[in-house]
Amino acid sequence: MARRKPGEGQTALVTGASAGIGVDLAECFAKDGYDLILTARNEGALQEVANRLSSAHGVKTHTIAQDLGAYGGGSAVAAAIAAKGLNVDVVVNNAGYGHAGALTSSDMPTQLGMIDLNVRALVELTYIYWDRMLANKRGGVLNVASTAAFQPGPLMANYYASKAYVLSFSEALWEEARGTGVHVSCLCPGPTVSNFRERAGTGKTRLANASKVMASAPVAREGYNGFKRNKRVVVTGGNNKFIAGVGKYLPRETLLKMVRNIQSPAA
Ligand SMILES: NC(=O)c1ccc[n+]([C@@H]2O[C@H](COP(=O)([O-])OP(=O)(O)OC[C@H]3O[C@@H](n4cnc5c(N)ncnc54)[C@H](OP(=O)(O)O)[C@@H]3O)[C@@H](O)[C@H]2O)c1
Repeated sequence: MARRKPGEGQTALVTGASAGIGVDLAECFAKDGYDLILTARNEGALQEVANRLSSAHGVKTHTIAQDLGAYGGGSAVAAAIAAKGLNVDVVVNNAGYGHAGALTSSDMPTQLGMIDLNVRALVELTYIYWDRMLANKRGGVLNVASTAAFQPGPLMANYYASKAYVLSFSEALWEEARGTGVHVSCLCPGPTVSNFRERAGTGKTRLANASKVMASAPVAREGYNGFKRNKRVVVTGGNNKFIAGVGKYLPRETLLKMVRNIQSPAA
């Protein structure tokens, strides 16, 4: 008889599952037998991912096209899930975007939209499913932050701050869930191959020139494996672990100058 996979009988909701890291995260859960609910704005791309993963891994997949940055976007996704008669055991809050440059180098909707998607929707979806996870004593939340979470980010201030929120929120919930069986992990990737750089406009910074860019599949795998072990914070790759750790030993003003320098346009 085939061995039961750890995720069988459970469902993972993955946001930002139409492209990039979210697709690979969804695949990690599918491989372990989780059924999937995939959400993002691009319905066609979601459908392709859903079809591929259900035939490769024999799991049930559902798609919900929704702008999560819209006010109430998380609740709209939850309502669509309930209307399909589905439950959610694991929430993977992965959808997010950034914008490189000084605060007013982009319009206000771009800046505020980052908070709506990276922070507000993440809290909304966690809030909706949290009590049920605790009552069931299983499942959990895998939040995607960034190495940007570990220090303020001059010339990308709002994005760094949004990811600092995600890290702080996740670590606090990890402690609240201690001993309950509910897992909480915060995945903190460094530069990773995806559509992120193009949307954020980070390609021309010194950081982009200097950094080692990881493929999205190993980033997702590290995140998923960390989540399985209820690892509080998962920083991907050796370089990124060093960068994320070194900041706390530097005087704050030195750190701010260094980050400003790497976020500046390359000569
Ligand atoms: N790539 C990196 O270098 C890097 C580094 C550190 C952290 N991260 C974080 O990793 C996460 C995933 O990013 P990625 O690198 O995979 O970027 P990506 O390739 O641009 O993927 C972003 C995903 O989020 C979805 N999304 C964007 N805006 C949305 C909205 N308003 N409503 C619903 N879904 C939306 C996109 O789908 P639609 O366009 O179809 O909506 C897509 O599926 C983000 O939280 C990002 O901050 C990335």
